[in-house]
Amino acid sequence: MDKEAVRQRIKKLSEIIEELNYRYYTLDDPIVKDEEYDALFHELLELEKKYPEFKDPFSPTARVGGEPLTHFYQVEHRVPMLSLDNTFDFAGLEEFYLRTCRNLSVNSLEFMAEPKVDGLAVSLIYEKGRLLKGATRGNGYTGEDITHNLLTIKSLPLKLKEEVSLVVRGEAFMTRSSFQLLNEERAKKKLPLFANPRNAAAGSLRQLDPKIAAQRPLDIIFYGFVKENDLEQIQTQQEGLERLRSLGFKTSKLSRLCHDLQDMKAYYNFLLQQRENIPYDIDGIVYKVNSLHLQELLGTTSRAPRWAIALKFPAVEKVTRIKDIVVNVGRTGALTPVALLEPVQLMGSTVQRASLHNEDILKEKDVKIGDWAVIRKAGDVIPEIVKVLPEKRTGEEKNFIMPSLCPSCSSRVVRLPGDAYTRCLNPTCPSQVVEKIIHFASRAAMDIEGLGNQLALQLYKEGLVKDQGDLYLLEEKDLIRLERMAQKSANNLLQAIEESKKRPLHRLLYGLGIRFVGER
Ligand code: IVH
Repeated sequence: MDKEAVRQRIKKLSEIIEELNYRYYTLDDPIVKDEEYDALFHELLELEKKYPEFKDPFSPTARVGGEPLTHFYQVEHRVPMLSLDNTFDFAGLEEFYLRTCRNLSVNSLEFMAEPKVDGLAVSLIYEKGRLLKGATRGNGYTGEDITHNLLTIKSLPLKLKEEVSLVVRGEAFMTRSSFQLLNEERAKKKLPLFANPRNAAAGSLRQLDPKIAAQRPLDIIFYGFVKENDLEQIQTQQEGLERLRSLGFKTSKLSRLCHDLQDMKAYYNFLLQQRENIPYDIDGIVYKVNSLHLQELLGTTSRAPRWAIALKFPAVEKVTRIKDIVVNVGRTGALTPVALLEPVQLMGSTVQRASLHNEDILKEKDVKIGDWAVIRKAGDVIPEIVKVLPEKRTGEEKNFIMPSLCPSCSSRVVRLPGDAYTRCLNPTCPSQVVEKIIHFASRAAMDIEGLGNQLALQLYKEGLVKDQGDLYLLEEKDLIRLERMAQKSANNLLQAIEESKKRPLHRLLYGLGIRFVGER
């Protein structure tokens, strides 16, 4: 083959493979056998290896993940990625509907109703039909460039069906079954488990090494676009979604146009009933004024558009038994009772613990060890006990008694008048110290990447860190003797700690976790 023929073949193979990806991952309608696909993929890999000069950075072979990055680049969103106002019931929806009609002086309004996929918002830029860049939402105005990870998502088109330039927005997510498989694998390797599919997806997209994202089956559904460039002429949300679909983007098949409030309510009932059959988590419905012209008239606040609302689904509830009640010591020394549950499946994850907050709440709910209880989980939050079922009692149930000694350091605990919590007052209490370090390193505080629960505990147990300040005295030789800590991770941690010195003063103050001193 001469060079030109090779170039042509590479181009042709890329096109065929992307079309097959599209059929398989976007349309869920494969047209060839796996072996046929593998053969084509292999041929492309070989040609690219032999003729690297013809390799496109966004070739379908790049979906297995290229070289790791050293850091993330910031991306400014030219059109901000806003948040949504929430409501939780039909009354709230009705109020929104009537208010919006009133603002526009109309009697009725068409809305596009779409499932609110529980994942991570991303923004993608395409130029002349080719993927240029993809970013996280970040704070809505600037996000992080995660193109290297996004292009490992097989249903994400690298090339569009037409050579158009546009900005699209969608939700990257993981299905419940993929999430479960991933956690099972992690359990085998004794790695920390993800709390839910959303966190698993977030963790994958925040990797510097795209090979990790490539191994985690992510998917993406597109729900929005910026009305400019080649999408300037689009008049309605519905038309926009159809246009995205025709360009090769995956959009939700469950979206519906609603002609009035009654339709909107009917759609809610329909989707709520479908919820468990949908392979990924949906936390509600987004209703958007269909006309883009009317959207523009309504405008936005600094936070959210006035033309859209999210109607959240109720939290999912399950019944299980409380095996025991143990006590957790938080960073402020507060003793919180935690119910240990008979494991139960709830929204795709196994729940084994539920917070009982404090003694008063526990008494108010009349919770006993051995009780059957309704537990609830909403979105990201820790599961909680809604109520116990006294009719299921056998008489074997036992009352919980708050210990008089701290379960972590055995010092005497006190509950002062007016305080909802019984507290351990020992400032060197191991539980408190570890929790303080975790808080200090958390995202909202000093944001020390890689320093989570397990590592904080390890550093404390090994006597390397006794307070937050000790983090800044850590050296490579201390770290590499820790279990499961290689040279590379040690250096990454040291670098993350070094980076944290750049955080503004308010984050440091917050990170110190002084009682009554919050983010504001
Ligand atoms: S519209 C300006 N549509 O929900 C409009 N958002 O709570 C803002 N989301 O950040 C977004 N599915 O991550 C829209 N069909 C959908 C959505 C959706 C999920 C997420 C998105 C957004 C968040 C707002």
